[in-house]
Amino acid sequence: MEMNVAEFDKVAKETFAPVYPVIAKQIKQKTKIMEGTCVDLGCGGGYLGLALAQITNLTVHLFDLLPEMQAIAKKNIKEYGLADRVTTILGDVHELPFADRSIDLLISRGSIFFWEDQAKALQEIYRVLAPGGKTFIGGGFGTPELKAKITQKMKQQDNSWNSNIKNRIGKASDEHFCSMLAQAGVTNFTIDRSDAGMWIIMRREAA
Ligand SMILES: C[S@@+](CC[C@H](N)C(=O)[O-])C[C@H]1O[C@@H](n2cnc3c(N)ncnc32)[C@H](O)[C@@H]1O
Repeated sequence: MEMNVAEFDKVAKETFAPVYPVIAKQIKQKTKIMEGTCVDLGCGGGYLGLALAQITNLTVHLFDLLPEMQAIAKKNIKEYGLADRVTTILGDVHELPFADRSIDLLISRGSIFFWEDQAKALQEIYRVLAPGGKTFIGGGFGTPELKAKITQKMKQQDNSWNSNIKNRIGKASDEHFCSMLAQAGVTNFTIDRSDAGMWIIMRREAA
């Protein structure tokens, strides 16, 4: 995946910043998981995981493939004053370095569209999901108003923004994800498309 990390983080900080606390609140309301262990997959600068750590008692691992993203996430953990509960882990979502059934909440925003083998990654995610655990994996802008505002701003900065996002969203139908989840052997899930987002909520029944 080619990406100018510094440029991406500038956009995350300047344009996307308001969406993270809004989505974190939705994750808290919809999953009701407020303690235990959470992993933010493809965390980038870690803004979603950090926003969720601020409003819960979760221990959060900010997980990303790129060392440059990890460096930014590390700096942000210090700035947020959350070093006692938030750490970084470098790795690939297709091969998670966690034990079976060990993670209470797996969240991810805007990363799944870049995963090479989504079925394999979803299978890995379900493998590590703890009893009583849930996922909140997909993409979104928090509210239709924020989506409209950000889209307008991004179009001004980058001509290809609209066609890029349409390309990604085009492949993001419920049918597509249902097929990926079937391949991954996951049956207990819903796809939530409220609040200007697309979120795969998988569940594992409590033991
Ligand atoms: C568009 S960014 C989103 C970052 C962040 N979640 C946010 O909302 O600001 C996608 C992130 O996914 C990460 N990523 C892509 N493929 C990955 C993989 N296979 N395993 C782990 N991280 C991955 C990228 O390095 C990048 O940081």
